[in-house]
Amino acid sequence: MSLKIGEIAPNFTVETTNGKIDFHDWIGDSWAFFFSHPADFTPVCTTEMGRTAQLSEEFAARNVKSIGLSTDTVEEHKKWILDVNDTQNTTLTFPIIADPDLKVAKLYEMIHPAESETAAVRSVFIIDPNKKIRLTMTYPMNVGRNFDEILRVIDALQLGDEKKIATPADWLPGDEVIIPPSIDNEAAKDIFPQGWNEIRPYLRTTKV
Ligand code: BEZ
Repeated sequence: MSLKIGEIAPNFTVETTNGKIDFHDWIGDSWAFFFSHPADFTPVCTTEMGRTAQLSEEFAARNVKSIGLSTDTVEEHKKWILDVNDTQNTTLTFPIIADPDLKVAKLYEMIHPAESETAAVRSVFIIDPNKKIRLTMTYPMNVGRNFDEILRVIDALQLGDEKKIATPADWLPGDEVIIPPSIDNEAAKDIFPQGWNEIRPYLRTTKV
């Protein structure tokens, strides 16, 4: 049974490169970007770890904490971080979970046995401050993730929460948004006093 959007992210206690953490306590009042990797000292993973570190100010501006996982030890992770910093020209400070016994990887179904019995695929979980899973994505081992998309979907989720809106295909911050069908026109008048464009009764766009 896979973890679903809307469910509470399972909690765990684990060793990381920044010490032992209780996952829910560590998230605290922030959002979390939790992402897994097949293994340390691999090329695609090295670029993704570096990109996450390079984007640390972007994540912080959105109140998002990053945390990685691969199925290696703290000692291996710490040696690898030196390589990440050196090759990706950055300083990685977010924690990387050590999961050599696959405890967390199995809990979060990051092991896809038809692909590998021991290495995690590239899973992403965006978790909100209520510890609710808000997005899941799974990438194959040989394809690096798109970090513009990760930031974009965080922006869309946070704006949706704040303004009660949905976002259209390929939405970017500043673009028009959608009034969800759950809000009828009567209620929309209060929530969106700026008005909206009714393309169809079920397709209403507005600016926020
Ligand atoms: C990588 O991170 O480069 C990688 C890991 C496993 C399979 C293919 C690529």
